[in-house]
Amino acid sequence: MTEREAYHLRGAVPETPQGATEPGPWTTTRVVGTRQTRVDAYERVSGSAVYPYDVSLPDMLFGAILRCPHANAMVRRVDTSAAQKMPGVRGVLTGSSPGADIPWYEREGTAYSRLFDPHCRHEGEEVAAVAAETPYQAADALRAIVVEYEPLPFVIDDQAALAAGAPKVHEGGNVVGQPSTRERGDVESGFADADVVVERTYQTPCEIQAPMEPHGSVAKWDGARLTVWDSTQGVFSVQDDLARVLKMPMANIRVIGHYMGGGFGAKLETGKYTVIAALLARMTARPVKLFLPRGDCFRVTGNRPANTITVKVGAKRDGTLTAIDYTSLGSNGAYPYNAGTSTMAAYLYRCPNVRTRDTTVYTNAGKARPMRAPGFPQCAWAFEQAIDELADKLGMDPVELRLRNISDVAQIRGGIPFTNNLLAECLRQGADAFGWKAARARTKGSGPVRRGVGVAAAFWVYPGGPPSTVIVKLFADGSANLNMGASDIGTGTKTWAAMIVTEELGVPLEQVQIEHADTATTQYATPSGGSKTVPSDSPAVRAAAVEVRRQLLAMAAEQLKVPLGDLELHDLEIISRSSPSTKVAVTAVQKLQRQGVVVGTGYRGPNPEGTITWPFAAQFCEVEVDTRTGEARLLRFLGAHDSGRVLNRLTFDNQVFGGITMGVGFGMTEARVLDRRTGKMLNANFHDYKVPTMLDVAPDQTSVPLDRPDDAFNTTGTKGLGEPATIPTAAAIANAVAHALGTRVADTPLNPTQLAGLEAAAGKEG
Ligand code: MOS
Repeated sequence: MTEREAYHLRGAVPETPQGATEPGPWTTTRVVGTRQTRVDAYERVSGSAVYPYDVSLPDMLFGAILRCPHANAMVRRVDTSAAQKMPGVRGVLTGSSPGADIPWYEREGTAYSRLFDPHCRHEGEEVAAVAAETPYQAADALRAIVVEYEPLPFVIDDQAALAAGAPKVHEGGNVVGQPSTRERGDVESGFADADVVVERTYQTPCEIQAPMEPHGSVAKWDGARLTVWDSTQGVFSVQDDLARVLKMPMANIRVIGHYMGGGFGAKLETGKYTVIAALLARMTARPVKLFLPRGDCFRVTGNRPANTITVKVGAKRDGTLTAIDYTSLGSNGAYPYNAGTSTMAAYLYRCPNVRTRDTTVYTNAGKARPMRAPGFPQCAWAFEQAIDELADKLGMDPVELRLRNISDVAQIRGGIPFTNNLLAECLRQGADAFGWKAARARTKGSGPVRRGVGVAAAFWVYPGGPPSTVIVKLFADGSANLNMGASDIGTGTKTWAAMIVTEELGVPLEQVQIEHADTATTQYATPSGGSKTVPSDSPAVRAAAVEVRRQLLAMAAEQLKVPLGDLELHDLEIISRSSPSTKVAVTAVQKLQRQGVVVGTGYRGPNPEGTITWPFAAQFCEVEVDTRTGEARLLRFLGAHDSGRVLNRLTFDNQVFGGITMGVGFGMTEARVLDRRTGKMLNANFHDYKVPTMLDVAPDQTSVPLDRPDDAFNTTGTKGLGEPATIPTAAAIANAVAHALGTRVADTPLNPTQLAGLEAAAGKEG
């Protein structure tokens, strides 16, 4: 008996009749939960998949954007006359061009900026744009535009931005909104009750999403109708934004994003480049392709904000937490964003006395955007190291300390029950599979090379939910078409969706054709982000397939003259449960043959009320540190994840390994470097900005899915995975290094320069 079957026996989940409209939980599955190669694997690896970057249209022009070279400057004059006359130039756009005076980053009716703003508040802000016959002619034309700038004093550091007399990024000063605070219990008396207290300040520099495919769009007009191919996480939100800024009906805007080469949150926001491509295309009456050079992607398309975090945690001798005091300062660049990080510190463990304070400041740098679990990896880096340090001081095993403080409710508004919380199981099963006890007890080595193991835990907040609408069509030959609006941002969305159709209808996987991510031809879905694509959209896919089956069974019931409730669909055959010789093949259902198609529409139902659903995770790693060079090498990594039911084990594991890889980058290799004297980014390329490679990740990586369906949450029992997979990674590495050396690294990146420096300072060299 598998664990899943055992769970269902314990949970006594009744089997849902196949003819029912609202599907109950799956009791058994045949395809869902297995390991399936992506349905579009061939297209992706052969290069035949057309990403927006690959779109090439007849008569297409190439767009390019002129950007401000200063960290803070007023644009006094733009002279495009020479550029207009350059060979191949077909259009030049500035803020005074017709229809280009567009407000950008508005809040409560106030525009913080415009599409081309005369005040450029960071390096790389848009000043003008051109469209030319070739990309080279476009680049030449940019150089022919004469701009008179008045450079202004700037501030790029979060602490400096708070200082009196700091240059103001906006009129109202450098603090974004009000600092947000949270308080429960009495923190002072909690610390008074503590036997052990740890306190430390941690820093995490700015990280860039750095997706493989650059940001960009192709825009084409047919009369009043605009079609945009966009590398985006959500075609419907781009359609919505374009309709607003171009003052057009949504119906006249088609946004297509069949493939896209990664976003990690940086492609949730509609880009200025998309609007600029549309305006250039309208001005020239030609299609325009506008993709950003890599350097611009680094400077202007988002980042994970830099944070400075001070954590103080107190506990009783037995490990029971008594108080948490958490303060976070984050710099979000020049336009509104929330660089807060405190959520996980407030709710990961049971603690009666908690105080958090998050402050976000403006700086003269590229604006932050969501990046894989916004705020959470920064929090884990600080808070999960504090918990580890506490375990050290208490002389307790770090896994034991965490297990002692599991909360059985979400500590929000006095306590809200979880639909499911398997954090303790993540820690236990992860520790067992990793061989934690033995590895922790093993000698660290006495020579220059030391070994250590570390653990860190996490949860994630966005559970997913409605709306999502999906249509499944079954054709007369038994093949099917699945129509959904969700973008597959590289995670395998199309594949699990097809697997659900196969599960419910028996149509072979390769005979499920998928239409997706096209505002003109597919159903509405919210953007793929927040680790919510699976839990938001998979119940809608299932509901659509189940609706097709219900209609099909009704047709067969009429034909076979048996009650609908007596019929079941198996491998494209409809069979009577009471008399199995009464059956009909799907292709022999007369009404289907006459009608040609059965169409089922499925909707994502509401989430349950009065409960909270979070995915949980625990990650474990082993490192080897060379104290002479400061190099920390990852030997082993293990992710134990409670993300509800696993739909596709292959892409599930891929998410775990991909999340860990990004966490390795956050913890060990990545940091945006701004020049103090100029405010310009010094490492806006893949040579100087180090994303991790195959040589940086552990050669031995293990995914341990708990695979326990959260059937109280939705009809597929799924929770999110993409973001939880990256949250605890860096903290687990830091904790392993602390175990190996006794040295705690408070700042990312944990690289040889920093580690060798710390070791030398501690007199532990060699
Ligand atoms: Mo994610 S940061 O919601 O793509």
